[in-house]
Amino acid sequence: MRLFVTGAAGFIGSNFIRYVLDNSDDQVTVYDALTYAGTRTNLIEIENNPRFNFIHGDICDRSTVEAAMSGHDVVVHFAAESHVDRSIVSPDAFIRTNCDGTNVLCDIAREVGVERFLHISTDEVYGSISEGSFLETDPLSPRSPYSASKAGSDLIALSHHATHGLPVVVTRSSNNYGPRQFPEKIIPLFTTNLIDGLNVPIYGDGKNIRDWCHVFDSCTAIDLVLREGKLGEIYNIGASNEITNLELTHHLLNLTNCDESRISWVEDRPGHDRRYSINTEKIRGLGWEPKISFSDGLAETIRWYQENRLWWEPLKGMP
Ligand SMILES: NC(=O)c1ccc[n+]([C@@H]2O[C@H](COP(=O)([O-])OP(=O)(O)OC[C@H]3O[C@@H](n4cnc5c(N)ncnc54)[C@H](O)[C@@H]3O)[C@@H](O)[C@H]2O)c1
Repeated sequence: MRLFVTGAAGFIGSNFIRYVLDNSDDQVTVYDALTYAGTRTNLIEIENNPRFNFIHGDICDRSTVEAAMSGHDVVVHFAAESHVDRSIVSPDAFIRTNCDGTNVLCDIAREVGVERFLHISTDEVYGSISEGSFLETDPLSPRSPYSASKAGSDLIALSHHATHGLPVVVTRSSNNYGPRQFPEKIIPLFTTNLIDGLNVPIYGDGKNIRDWCHVFDSCTAIDLVLREGKLGEIYNIGASNEITNLELTHHLLNLTNCDESRISWVEDRPGHDRRYSINTEKIRGLGWEPKISFSDGLAETIRWYQENRLWWEPLKGMP
């Protein structure tokens, strides 16, 4: 297959295309605008792979997308503005890229006649749940500008399936962690702060719950849905590792030999969702299961940041 992969100069996409190049004969074109969150450094070890190609472009730019996507069999759409805190301060870029950009990609994918359009969405579109777990059929209730824009893009992609027959499949993943995650997200932010002798800022009472999935497991699930997911269907992806942000912080403190004095309590994020939880029976029914335990994955991730200061140091505090 010839894959057209948007946003793969970022965290999950760059891990995903490594997985594809290592585990198939597929050809991969990465299409990425290289915003603050995307860098060619994430692709450096595969730049010379003859099955890899990079095109610099914005998903909102119709003519560039048209020229770039033609000749591809499938689209895997990771490109997005992805950080909740940034969406609270400046939502415009989120609506533009996540909603408008997804619509442009769907339109052009229809013209090109791709066999599959895999839209990468998030568990945040369901909103917060105090008990139980969301099913793929549950209504969406996003509460941040980020999750609202992702819910918009998710529904735009599905509407192209229902209205025009575009062969769309959607994944909704829980929080990912692992190598090459931008150091504004909680695990790399806290890890690099601790490495640098800085404190870690915990929002509110620290009891917000997230479900953590290692990016490698997430990528194997995305790859499976790409190849075997049913058209028009949605698949939740998560590893059932639900912990509070405070528990997560304690793991990070232990793994970096730091103590609680390194915690700074800060005012809560506005509209901070309390708990995310998704039911993953549907993707498990396709034969997927996560392989990396949270303790191993977290220890390995911290090691990666300890050994790759040259990667994250220039990115810390980037506007
Ligand atoms: N990271 C997570 O925990 C998580 C969880 C669930 C879903 N997701 C979704 O997965 C996808 C990837 O997330 P990530 O964490 O790798 O994001 P990221 O912020 O690390 O990477 C986003 C990439 O998209 C590119 N991009 C942004 N705007 C663009 C535009 N207009 N045109 C072309 N490229 C553009 C950036 O340059 C970057 O390479 C996103 O759609 C996100 O919503 C992420």
